[in-house]
Amino acid sequence: MVETVHPALALNGTITLPPDKSISHRSVLFASLADEASSIHNYSSAADPESTIQCMRQLGVRIDKSGNELVVHGVGRNGLKPPADPLDCGNSGTTMRLLSGIVAGAGIEASLIGDESLSARTMKRIIDPLRQMGANIEASEDEYAPIRLLAHKGIRPMRYPLPIASAQLKSCVLLAGLFGETSTEVVEQVPSRDHTERLLGLKSEPFGQGKIISSSSADHIPTQSYTIPGDFSAAAFWMVGASIHDESTLKLENVGINPSRTAALHILQQMGASITLSNERMQGREPVADMEITSSPLSGVDIDPALIPNCIDELPILMVALCFAEGQSTITGAEELRHKETDRLEAMYNILIAAGADAELKPDGITIQGNPGFVPKAAQFESQHDHRMAMAAAILSSVAEEPSTILDAECTSISYPQFWTHLQAVSK
Ligand code: S3P
Repeated sequence: MVETVHPALALNGTITLPPDKSISHRSVLFASLADEASSIHNYSSAADPESTIQCMRQLGVRIDKSGNELVVHGVGRNGLKPPADPLDCGNSGTTMRLLSGIVAGAGIEASLIGDESLSARTMKRIIDPLRQMGANIEASEDEYAPIRLLAHKGIRPMRYPLPIASAQLKSCVLLAGLFGETSTEVVEQVPSRDHTERLLGLKSEPFGQGKIISSSSADHIPTQSYTIPGDFSAAAFWMVGASIHDESTLKLENVGINPSRTAALHILQQMGASITLSNERMQGREPVADMEITSSPLSGVDIDPALIPNCIDELPILMVALCFAEGQSTITGAEELRHKETDRLEAMYNILIAAGADAELKPDGITIQGNPGFVPKAAQFESQHDHRMAMAAAILSSVAEEPSTILDAECTSISYPQFWTHLQAVSK
């Protein structure tokens, strides 16, 4: 599908965000491992969380779904059944990496497959520690899906210093650890999103500059009622959109504001963005708030590399904001962006250059010479089938003077199926 984005004079209105993708995945996975039924409210209808539901059903978990409401009939961590067919994780790295931890932990036989993009993303980062824990895994060139998990002699708990700040890797090891008799300890020096430890209530202790999170078969997996907050990563597109348009005000309700996710909010505020939070509250184990963004001049920023894991999914749209900021901005320490649904450094660089921005690509980041008067050139933008590329290009295009087109625009359904409708509704 090709989407045409017409320039907007302003972005105004109120948006109900899609439910958070990371928390949606985890709610179904964890509820499946609980001993009784859990309810999930406001589950994401995007394609990635749907992949997680399908995989858990194949593993023998009954999941009743009515719109965004789910009842997951947990089978307990020893109740999963070997699936008859491969588990199709679609485009979802979170599904493949977290599910590998669970299936390896349970010691059941299953193959995990994914689409073309997921099959080109390295799984070595999870295969290595899972093998250290005793898992029996076959994978092509020891790195890529399909991954075949085979029976083994039981999980060997370990202490694991995380070699990369990745919540998917951290979660994979901790989930496998839930099947070990003694504690598996994950040492995290650079914090990444903490939904897994938060929702499972895992033990966590300070360690050096970071923390040690542990899991074992003694941990009770809570049967709980989950309510999924609005997706902060989806909110980021509107935070930037309203900031860079004149005379705009966008209101977002029920936005997840877990501190391990909100670095982009603080970076934008540091740049001068006018973003206010109100009605801050807890929804289950996750904090949420309402948000209001109004147009504001932006100034350039050197993003602290230590914050990269806490804004990893927001970096593409932050790059758009940097094009409109006064002065030079730099992103460094973001090599991980090259290992996402596409090489997001390269793909965003190509989008920005096609729009006439002044950007220089680096191995681990980008330098952008911003201009508050920047008017993007209309262009035909390649999304590379990557939802975040398509949405970043769309926000950029909404500030241009002529209509632009976004190729493979249907990929926004991976995380934000209503994105195009919402963009149209708030474009004035
Ligand atoms: C996610 C973690 C991040 C993020 C991804 C979702 C998660 O990946 O980019 O979109 O839900 O744990 P990494 O852990 O690979 O950084």
